[in-house]
Formats: sequence, structure tokens, C-alpha cells
Amino acid sequence: MTSRYAQLAFTPAVRARQQHHGSRTAYARIEQGPARADRLGDDEVGFITARDSFYLASTGESGWPYVQHRGGPPGFLRAVDATTLAFADFRGNRQYITTGNLQGNDRVALLLMDYPQRIRLKILGTAVTDDNPGPALLRALTPADYRAVVERVVLITVEAYDWNCPQHITPRYTPQEIEDDHADLCRRLAELQRQNAALPRLNERLAELEAENTALRAAVQ
Ligand SMILES: Cc1cc2nc3c(=O)[nH]c(=O)nc-3n(C[C@H](O)[C@H](O)[C@H](O)COP(=O)(O)O)c2cc1C
Repeated sequence: MTSRYAQLAFTPAVRARQQHHGSRTAYARIEQGPARADRLGDDEVGFITARDSFYLASTGESGWPYVQHRGGPPGFLRAVDATTLAFADFRGNRQYITTGNLQGNDRVALLLMDYPQRIRLKILGTAVTDDNPGPALLRALTPADYRAVVERVVLITVEAYDWNCPQHITPRYTPQEIEDDHADLCRRLAELQRQNAALPRLNERLAELEAENTALRAAVQ
């Protein structure tokens, strides 16, 4: 956990619970770093741009948190620089809950999952929507060959992030990942079948050589 994440997530009530349960001393140390926004490094950027989905939480005017899934081809969530993420928001059920929420409260939480590797990355930030992005930004964020209508782009300024442990994450695989894995198995199976098919011929040859050997031994005796 970065010190910035701890500073934002450990509210007085959270700190009190940590105190009550005996984890406060260890966590208090994490908060000691500088109070400035985290910057994404190579590990974070690599992980973010490999994702084909993430969960995006916002808060409505009612005070209720709201979490929604965003998905697209890997790379649809872009790290524009060390503090900015961006994605094209596709047309969906036209409820516009996240979009509306962001008008009153720009704070967002993202949860990015890598189920096969059992890794999760949590991000806190502030988001703005842009219904009329410039053509260059729109082009950069619109996935090629993907069936979706882009309604707007969402830009997220990263404030803090936290890598989480693999606890209680069940590995899950996309059809593509299963297909890739099967393709490898199929290749290995085909190679074994080829080797298997050659075995009778090899056995025949071995028998011929043994017969020749026996004949030679008999000749030299
Ligand atoms: C035709 C259609 C129907 C959808 N129905 C639902 C739905 O019932 N529930 C849901 O959570 N998402 C649904 N989605 C996906 C959401 O519309 C999409 O995730 C959208 O970005 C949600 O934004 P919002 O939850 O911030 O309003 C649907 C998408 C389409 C294209």
C-alpha cells in the first residue's frame, strides 16, 4: 500500500477500528510518506493496459455508492501518463448513473482484476467526462474492430493506488485464455500422435536390426 492510499483510505473511523483490532501501529507507519499523488510506474501501466475490464465506483447525490463494470478489448483503459487514465465510454442501457454521479462528485474508485494470476489493483482518483472529445483523443481511445458506440471519454486523474494480495481470488479464465491454453495442448497432442504413429515402423526396423545382428553373430562364430 502506498502512503498516499493509506492517507486517503484510513479515515478517523477506520483508524479507530485498526486501533481496536490491534493493527493500528503497523498501519500508522504506512501513512508517514509524503501527501502527494502517486505516480503510476511500469508495473501499474503494464497491468492496467492488459485489462479487458474493471469495476468503477462513484457516489451519487443520495450519498449511496454505486459500482459498475466497464469492459472492452485489452488496452481499452489507457494510461495516458503517470497520473492519468482514460477510456472510451460505450453506449449501454442509457441510465447514465456514473456519468451523472461524476457531475456532483468526481471521486472514483477502480478495481482491476487479473483472475488467472490472482492479482488486484485498486485505484483512487478523480474523473471527468468529455462528451465532445477532440478527434485525436477519440481516435486514440476508440478500440479498433470493436462493436460499440463511443458516447464520451472519461479521464481519470490518479490520486493513489494499492496492489492487493491474492487472498480469496478464484482463478477464472476468459474463452480466449482457455482457447490459447487448448491450442498449446492440441499442438502437444498432435506431436505425441505423430511420434506414436511412427512407433510401429521403428519397432519393425528394430526387429530387422536384431535379426541382422543375430545373423552376423552366427556368421562370426
Ligand atoms: C442494451 C443494453 C442493456 C444493458 N442492460 C444493463 C443492465 O440491465 N444492467 C447493467 O448493470 N448494465 C447493463 N448494460 C451495461 C451498461 O449499460 C453499461 O455498463 C453502462 O456503461 C453502465 O453505465 P452506468 O451504470 O454508469 O449508467 C446494458 C448495456 C446495453 C447495451
